[in-house]
Amino acid sequence: MIENYKEAFEKTRSAGVIAAGALDEVFKIAKPGIRTDQIDNLCYEYLNDHGAYSAPLFYRGFPKSCCTSANHVVCHGIPSDKILKDGDIINVDVTALKDGWHGDTSRTFEIGEVSIKGKKLVQTTYEAMMKGIKIIKEDIFLGDIGATIQSHVEAEGFSVVQDFCGHGIGKQFHKEPNVLHYGKKGTGEKIKAGMIFTIEPMINLGKYETKTLNDGWTAVTKDKSLSAQFEHTIGVTKDGYEIFTLSKN
Ligand code: MF3
Ligand code: CO
Ligand code: CO
Repeated sequence: MIENYKEAFEKTRSAGVIAAGALDEVFKIAKPGIRTDQIDNLCYEYLNDHGAYSAPLFYRGFPKSCCTSANHVVCHGIPSDKILKDGDIINVDVTALKDGWHGDTSRTFEIGEVSIKGKKLVQTTYEAMMKGIKIIKEDIFLGDIGATIQSHVEAEGFSVVQDFCGHGIGKQFHKEPNVLHYGKKGTGEKIKAGMIFTIEPMINLGKYETKTLNDGWTAVTKDKSLSAQFEHTIGVTKDGYEIFTLSKN
């Protein structure tokens, strides 16, 4: 597919490290009493200070620089004057656009002291993403990734959101292939060295169904149960993978 992917990897890595750095800063202020638009401001400033743009800002009309998705919000939550309180969980999703290339990553933060169930959900979601990443190498199938994530999540009694998926990324924010977080081993496209895509499972405490609110963006669980998400941007190599959105420290 892509013979010489050195430049793509280097540029995605540069963007990815900046996005990860923004989340490191968000972690420091993610405390009870903070507003989600303060998180948004921090992301806007951090990206600009590091020579990048926020890819979400004005993307298909999205009004803010990051997504902030708390509690039963699955994804695409819009930063606002909402105040975070003790026991909330919140996913912050940052995409940096640097030198024409994208790096996309998200983490779910615990605000103050979170319930045992909430903590279990957050931990299982992180583990599921990492298990999906760790099997990556040339010639596995996309379905192998989905199956690995789904089996870990369902073994814990949680459910995998089906309405949103990971995606190819590069000069374009969202491109082929769709990376489903559920599925069957040996199905779907074979992955090839040089491919760059995200893995970003959204996992619900209750049922998997979602609905989108009237703002046209905010996706929530239909049953109002908690939802968590983590996301990395990765590149496929001959014998493995590289995660582009790791923190530098
Ligand atoms: N970062 C999200 C993703 O993981 C997309 C956000 S698009 C926005 O693909 F417009 F909602 F910001
Ligand atoms: Co993404
Ligand atoms: Co994202």
